Amino acid sequence: SDKILQKSIDPTVHQMLDRAEQAGIETVWDRYEKMLPECGFGELGVCCRNCNMGPCRISPFEDEGPQKGICGATADIIVARNLIRMIAGGAAAHSDHGRDLAHTLLLTAEGKSGGYEIKDEAKLAALAKEYGITADGRTKEEIALDLAKAVYAEFGKQEGPLQFTRRAPQKRVDQWQKMGIDPRGIDREIVEIMHRTHIGVDNDPVNLILQGLKASIADGWGGSMVATEISDVLFGTPEPVRSEANLGVLKADHVNIVAHGHEPVLSEMILAACSDPALVAKAKGLGAKGINLVGMCCTGNELNMRHGIPLAGNFMQQELAVITGAVDAMIVDVQCIMPALGDLCECFHTQFISTSYKAKFPGAVHMQFNEENALSIAKEIVGSAVDNYANRVPEKVFIPEEKSDCMVGFSAEAIIKALGGTLDPLLDAIKSGAIKGIAGVVGCNNPKIKHDLGHVGLVKELIKNNVLVVTTGCNAIATAKVGLMLPEAADQAGDGLKGVCQSLGIPPVLHMGSCVDISRILNVCAAAANALGVDISDLPVAGAAPEWMSEKAVSIGAYVVSSGIFTVLGTVPPVLGGPLVTEVLTQGANDVVGAAFAVETDPVKGAGLMIAHMDAKRKALGI
Ligand code: SF4
Ligand code: FE2
Repeated sequence: SDKILQKSIDPTVHQMLDRAEQAGIETVWDRYEKMLPECGFGELGVCCRNCNMGPCRISPFEDEGPQKGICGATADIIVARNLIRMIAGGAAAHSDHGRDLAHTLLLTAEGKSGGYEIKDEAKLAALAKEYGITADGRTKEEIALDLAKAVYAEFGKQEGPLQFTRRAPQKRVDQWQKMGIDPRGIDREIVEIMHRTHIGVDNDPVNLILQGLKASIADGWGGSMVATEISDVLFGTPEPVRSEANLGVLKADHVNIVAHGHEPVLSEMILAACSDPALVAKAKGLGAKGINLVGMCCTGNELNMRHGIPLAGNFMQQELAVITGAVDAMIVDVQCIMPALGDLCECFHTQFISTSYKAKFPGAVHMQFNEENALSIAKEIVGSAVDNYANRVPEKVFIPEEKSDCMVGFSAEAIIKALGGTLDPLLDAIKSGAIKGIAGVVGCNNPKIKHDLGHVGLVKELIKNNVLVVTTGCNAIATAKVGLMLPEAADQAGDGLKGVCQSLGIPPVLHMGSCVDISRILNVCAAAANALGVDISDLPVAGAAPEWMSEKAVSIGAYVVSSGIFTVLGTVPPVLGGPLVTEVLTQGANDVVGAAFAVETDPVKGAGLMIAHMDAKRKALGI
C-alpha cells in the first residue's frame, strides 16, 4: 500500500511490511505510530527525574507554567544534564565493548581463551611500540599480555592521558588541555557525568557540556579505539573483500543464522562454528544444503569487513528478517537489539538466542557465552540453530529477492595500501580539487525518517559533489544495499571523484566498519592533518548522522565535534528546550573545539551544509 511505500526506500521492507500487515504482526513502525504524538517535554529535553522531589518539567511557554524545577533548575540546566547523561550511556556502551576486547586479548595472551589467537602481529607490534612495550626477543603472547594489561588499565586509571588520544594532532591535544577536556580514565569521565548530574551538583550548563565532551573523547579516542584496534589484533585488520547486502542474502534451502548485535568476540566464534564439519553434516542430514551465516547491524559489519559475510540488513530490518520465516536462529549479544524480537519470534519458528549476561530478553533462550570456552559454546549455539531447521514451516517462508553486491573492508590500513602506501595521493586529489573533501556518514536508523532515505539521499548528494564518503554502522549497510559500495558506483559521482575512484578501482563510498570503527575515521583524519601540519578542524571534512537514534550516537556526535569536525544531525536532538545549550552546540562550540553541530532533517540540504563547510575550509587553506 501507499502507506507502506512511505516507510522506507528499500523494497524488501515494503514486502515484509505487507506480509506483517496481512499476518497482523506489529513492527517498530506500528509501535512508533501508536506513540504519536510523542511527549513534547521529552522532545525538548525539559523533563527531569533526577530526584524524587520531581519529576519536574519546564513549560515551553514563558508566561505560563513552571520555568524552574523544584530545586530551581532552569530549562538549560535540565537539558544539559539530560544530554550528557545520554553521552554517559553511549560512551559506556562503546567502552564496555572495548573492555571486552581487552579482556579477550588478556585471556588469549595467558593461553586461557578457548579458540582465539593473535592474527595481526604487525598491528600488535605497532600498538606495543605506541605503548612503549619492548618486543625484542619476546613471543607474541608475551607482548600481547603487556598490551592487554596496558589497554585494560585505560578504563580504570585516575590520571590521563589516554594513550590513543595522543594520535590527535598536537594542536588538538593542546586545545583539549586548555579547555580542561583532555580525558583521564575512560570510566572516570563517565562516572563523573553521573556525579555531576545528581541533584545539587553541577548546575552550569556550559560546564556540564564540557564534561560531556570530555567523556565523549574518552569514548572516541579511548574505548571505541581500543575496541577497534584490539579486534584487529585478534581477528585481523580488514582488507577489501566482496560481499552482498540485504534480506535477499537469506537462503531458502540453508540453515539461516543471523548474528545480531555488536561484539566480534561472539560472532567470530559463531563463524568458526558454522564451518564445523559435524555441524554442517548435521544440517545436511536434516535436508539443508548447508549453514548460511549472515549479519545484522554492527556484528554484521564486523563479519562483513573481515570475512565478506553477507549483511542481512540494518537496525530497522531486524524484525523483518524474522518475518521472512526463514531465520532458524537470531543470535544476539549486546546493543541495538529490540526487545520486540521475543514476541515476534514466537509467531515463527525462529529461535531467539541471547548470549551475554548483560543483555537478557523476554522470549529469548539464554545460552551464556564466555571466552574461556568460546568455540565449544559457539558450537552448541550453532547446533541449536541447526536443530531448529527441522521446525521451519516452508509455507511460511518468503525471502525477498533483493540484494546488492558490495566491496567492503576499507580499514585505514587498507585505504593507505590502496593508495600505494601513503595518504599522499588522496591529499593531492584534495589539493587539486578532484576530491572536494571527505565526509564521515554514520549512525542508526530511526522511524522518524523514511528508512534509508536520510542515509542514501545524503550520501548520493555528497558523491555527486565530489565528496569521498567513508561510512560505518547502519549507514554503511544502507549504502551497501543500494550498490553504492561498488567501484561502478563511481558513475554516480562527480567527475573528479569518479576519476580518482576509477584509477584506484575503489567505490566512492568506503565501508570502514562498525560504530566503534568511527575510530578508524578519526585515525585517517589525524594522519591527514599531521601530514599537512594542520589541525583536524582545518581540514575539508564533515560528519553526518542522518537517521541517528541511540545514546551511542550522541556520544559519537560529541567526540566527532570535539575532534574538530562539523557534524550534521538528521533527527532533532532533545535539546531545543534549552536556548543556551542549543546555542553552545550549534555556535559556541566553534570557540571551544573548532567545530559545531547543525540539525537538518532534509538529507539533500544536510549534504549542502557539509559541502559549504568544506568549501570554506578549502578557502581558508588556500586550496
Ligand atoms: Fe526536579 Fe530538580 Fe529533582 Fe530534577 S533534580 S526532578 S528539576 S527537583
Ligand atoms: Fe552499531
